[in-house]
Amino acid sequence: MELLSAAHIRKAFRSGGVKVHAVRDASFSVSEGEIAVVIGKSGAGKSTLLNILGGLLAPDEGEVKLCGVIYTA
Ligand SMILES: Nc1ncnc2c1ncn2[C@@H]1O[C@H](COP(=O)(O)OP(=O)(O)OP(=O)(O)O)[C@@H](O)[C@H]1O
Ligand SMILES: [Mg+2]
Repeated sequence: MELLSAAHIRKAFRSGGVKVHAVRDASFSVSEGEIAVVIGKSGAGKSTLLNILGGLLAPDEGEVKLCGVIYTA
């Protein structure tokens, strides 16, 4: 059974007049009993993605679904 999914998540920040694409079109799903890890170099967008999955940050685009409840940008 699917517990968590992300569909086409995007998030950009403005930093000093420059647009930084922290997460570009991230999609995945995690099922019951599965263990998922997020890996990537510093600045790849791991914390941004996890903050979006945890509801601490709103994505610019995309959808997070947690236990059947959809959170849309
Ligand atoms: N609040 C913010 N304002 C501006 N830019 C940000 C903000 N948060 C993150 N960024 C930028 O977005 C990109 C992704 O940052 P993020 O912190 O998600 O990376 P990370 O993979 O968690 O890095 P680390 O491994 O160093 O923790 C980086 O270029 C970062 O500078
Ligand atoms: Mg981080």
